[in-house]
Amino acid sequence: MHQNTRMHTLLYCLAAIAGISNIPATLAAESEDSIQLLQATGRYGPWQVPRAEFDTFLANHPNATGNYAIMGPNISASAESPFSGNESAIDGWSWSIVVSADLPLINTTWVPEDDGKGPFYYTGGKMTLNAPSSLLGPGGNLTVDDGWELCLFTWQIDDFPYSDKLRSDNGTCKSVLSDECIAEMKLAAASATVEGSCSCPIASSLPSCSRLGDAAKVFNNNCYGSPRNATDIRRWKEGKLETYAFGDATAHHLGNNTAYNNIGSLAFPALISFRNKDDINGVTDGSMTSLSCVRAVDAVAGSTVPGDAESSGNRLGTGAMTGIALALYGLWTLIL
Ligand SMILES: *[C@@H]1O[C@H](CO)[C@@H](O)[C@H](O)[C@H]1NC(C)=O
Ligand SMILES: *[C@@H]1O[C@H](CO)[C@@H](O)[C@H](O)[C@H]1NC(C)=O
Ligand SMILES: *[C@@H]1O[C@H](CO)[C@@H](O)[C@H](O)[C@H]1NC(C)=O
Ligand SMILES: *[C@@H]1O[C@H](CO)[C@@H](O)[C@H](O)[C@H]1NC(C)=O
Ligand SMILES: *[C@@H]1O[C@H](CO)[C@@H](O)[C@H](O)[C@H]1NC(C)=O
Ligand SMILES: *[C@@H]1O[C@H](CO)[C@@H](O)[C@H](O)[C@H]1NC(C)=O
Ligand SMILES: *[C@@H]1O[C@H](CO)[C@@H](O)[C@H](O)[C@H]1NC(C)=O
Ligand SMILES: *[C@@H]1O[C@H](CO)[C@@H](O)[C@H](O)[C@H]1NC(C)=O
Repeated sequence: MHQNTRMHTLLYCLAAIAGISNIPATLAAESEDSIQLLQATGRYGPWQVPRAEFDTFLANHPNATGNYAIMGPNISASAESPFSGNESAIDGWSWSIVVSADLPLINTTWVPEDDGKGPFYYTGGKMTLNAPSSLLGPGGNLTVDDGWELCLFTWQIDDFPYSDKLRSDNGTCKSVLSDECIAEMKLAAASATVEGSCSCPIASSLPSCSRLGDAAKVFNNNCYGSPRNATDIRRWKEGKLETYAFGDATAHHLGNNTAYNNIGSLAFPALISFRNKDDINGVTDGSMTSLSCVRAVDAVAGSTVPGDAESSGNRLGTGAMTGIALALYGLWTLIL
């Protein structure tokens, strides 16, 4: 056992004996706060590695992927006005994510100081919105009617307390949100928008979401809403829009899967809402609006699912049960 872990175990044990109950919460907060991500830009991947190298490595050496079908309309057909919200959905809209455990840290000057243990690697991935390939025209671009517009909302998940429950989410965000809250958020996103801009639904100001308290806290973090019109959508390469490319802010050596289990198991919340661009403040039933929590749940052959392993010791989880379990374990190790 790692010395620090033993020390923590001892503290838990002593705390339990002394009846101090707030230590588990403090430690849980510490583990939740520790997510640090580097974001890729147009030219560079995380760690300022050449962008092409990042993209190629992810494509050729994925460890885990996730794919989530979402509700979306036939944007090749004309958008109804007023947008009734019950336009029929077509197959093929989805969110996807891919994660690699060990991207090589090469061709960058950002390499950590040599510690004699060999080359450095980092964990990274990217999230993509996919349009139906049935809507791709002969030139390989999407055929989009001028009347369509969409709003894309994403939430910052690093540098904030992350709800660890989301690491077991099935893509619906229901691990932390209620059906009522999801419906309210979708409605807020679908209706409270002005042409050419997308205003974020604020969870804390929606009654059924604010009632959830801390569980829904990720949705009170910084949210980014961005509009895409028909011209923008036609530019998506092969009908795919990359929305977030990221890497761990701490490098590691080959075979150390701590970062993979921590970063790779994150679910990224995303909300997308389609509408007719001429429908200013148009109220819809939210049926062409979807909220997803996108996570890499499928291991590729020969790989493990992130967060699956016994190595999840760095994520203590929340709540007193963990603290009690650790305290009991502490007693056990003392007795031995
Ligand atoms: C989408 O709409 C276009 C234009 O109306 C039509 O040609 C096409 O068949 C539709 N595609 C699907 C999958 O419904
Ligand atoms: C959409 O729903 C509204 C009311 O719910 C209904 O009046 C309208 O006929 C529907 N439109 C279509 C195309 O189904
Ligand atoms: C990375 O550097 C190697 C030499 O160290 C070079 O052969 C390769 O082309 C570089 N790759 C990129 C994408 O710059
Ligand atoms: C997802 O999980 C929630 C509970 O968190 C459950 O109610 C729902 O049925 C699940 N949905 C799917 C598609 O698995
Ligand atoms: C579409 O949006 C872009 C910004 O993303 C803007 O520059 C352009 O003028 C818009 N086009 C139309 C037709 O509204
Ligand atoms: C078609 O897609 C490419 C990217 O794959 C983009 O550069 C080009 O501008 C698009 N063409 C139109 C007409 O939007
Ligand atoms: C594994 O990597 C993490 C950073 O992701 C680091 O904190 C930890 O000390 C490393 N473990 C070992 C045994 O080197
Ligand atoms: C990731 O995939 C590589 C092969 O590309 C494999 O060697 C490695 O063990 C995998 N790592 C995990 C954590 O599954």
